[in-house]
Amino acid sequence: MADTPHRVWPKAPVIYQIYPRSFHDTTGTGTGDLNGITLKLEHVATLGVDAIYVSPFYPSPFADGGYDIADHIAVHPALGTMADFDRMVARAHELGLKVIIDQVYNHTSDTAPWFVRSVMGDPDYDDFYVWRDPKPDGTAPNNWLSQFGPPAWTWNHVRRQYYLHNFTHRQPSLNLRCPAVQEQMQAIMRFWLDRGVDGFRLDAVTSFLFDESMADNPPATKAVQRSASGETFVPYTYQDHVHDILPGDGLSYMENVRRWAGQDVFLLGEVTSGNNSVELASGLSHPDRLNAAYTTDLAENRATAEAYADILSRTADPQRLGWWLSSHDQPRHADKAGDGSDRDVRFLALLLATAPGPVIVYQGEELGLSQPRLSRDDVTDPLDLLYWPDGPGREGARVPIPWGETQQRGFTQGTPWLPVDWPQGKSIAVQTISAHSNLGFYRRAMTFRRERGIGDMVLDDWSHECDVIRLSYGIPGEHANGRIEVVLNFGTKTARVRKDPALASADFEGTHMPGRCGAIWVG
Ligand code: GLC
Repeated sequence: MADTPHRVWPKAPVIYQIYPRSFHDTTGTGTGDLNGITLKLEHVATLGVDAIYVSPFYPSPFADGGYDIADHIAVHPALGTMADFDRMVARAHELGLKVIIDQVYNHTSDTAPWFVRSVMGDPDYDDFYVWRDPKPDGTAPNNWLSQFGPPAWTWNHVRRQYYLHNFTHRQPSLNLRCPAVQEQMQAIMRFWLDRGVDGFRLDAVTSFLFDESMADNPPATKAVQRSASGETFVPYTYQDHVHDILPGDGLSYMENVRRWAGQDVFLLGEVTSGNNSVELASGLSHPDRLNAAYTTDLAENRATAEAYADILSRTADPQRLGWWLSSHDQPRHADKAGDGSDRDVRFLALLLATAPGPVIVYQGEELGLSQPRLSRDDVTDPLDLLYWPDGPGREGARVPIPWGETQQRGFTQGTPWLPVDWPQGKSIAVQTISAHSNLGFYRRAMTFRRERGIGDMVLDDWSHECDVIRLSYGIPGEHANGRIEVVLNFGTKTARVRKDPALASADFEGTHMPGRCGAIWVG
């Protein structure tokens, strides 16, 4: 059992997401690996973040970028070994970084031995997945859709039954009410906790449970559609997900997960879907459940002042809602939420550094990278391919990040698994030596958050007027000196503010804060 003094968390930590295949390659295969993470962790530590969160590195056929796991307690041989994993954790702790790893309990790969046995009708695995007979006319049991669009049911001729999948048909959904599956979940958690990890990012928690009656979902009203997060171009948003998203006891299931993980483990849930996404995230997280959950609302709504205010007004406890703009699932935000300029990159960095809940920074966003274009031949992501060329651009967000200016940008000695055609001058090597770079600003902003303890402060007041959001933080019971005021000017007009901020995303004189600027005042 590993020593765990490192599991003391700020309430709202800053977490740096690493997509291992695209971080750094030490073997020349063109695919990033765990040793690449270990080697480059120092860069992450200089950002002033609290933790890393590592996307799946488990054995997988990569039918969904590694989120189709064949073995939950092993390392993909292309990405390293268990000894490499242990070294990564040890190095992170040495640098003062906590370690969160991705856990996908909602489904497995269709190549996972559990699924193979379940298909064969092995009685020990019969109930591991969600099998249902067809309707008398041979069609699927109900009208449920996968989050990617096509029906959530695929026919299996061996069992002569349909199986449920919330994502691709290569990702059969586990039956999380089955006691044997729950035992496996606990064993998986214990396995990684014993190896010293400090937290889990729980993939797709909204799909964990469904209504056993398997009733059809009714159509969504316009109001329901507006309150849902997720891609709007898929038919999934046409349904009101009253039967397939955490009905009845769905939210309290997280109390089991908390009990299994233990109190000191940081649990961060991902809400990809569902009506009332923000309310759902709030319901998933409280002291007996998850530390926090996050939705796609801010990122998908281009981080406008309206979207920010809407989220704040819908959550009971903003300290338990995750804040982020880029990920392996979203196009890079520099030119989605901004215009690609350094000014916008820094404004959005300040927005994140002052957010009231846990913050997730995605690898490379500290460089202000824009979304690269890929050709269809390069792309392997099932969602991008399904809607090519109009998909969300998930694969573009996974292009390996530039460490240097050489041909393969210091990512690999070989041929990278995706082309790395970044513009010159964006790399970590270049930006790290200039205090005036985007990277320099990220370091200042995140370090400021950490040193001032914003992650432990409570948002006790906020307002939204025109394009300006004002936030006021304090530590309960403490006086003026501990206070932090933040102004975020999302618009183009000048906003009236106090003089002399402690940190601003752009320079300004006196009390006239220009548009696309954010600033912080202390006391
Ligand atoms: C999560 C992951 C995404 C994946 C999906 C299914 O949303 O972030 O990449 O496709 O779950 O596992």
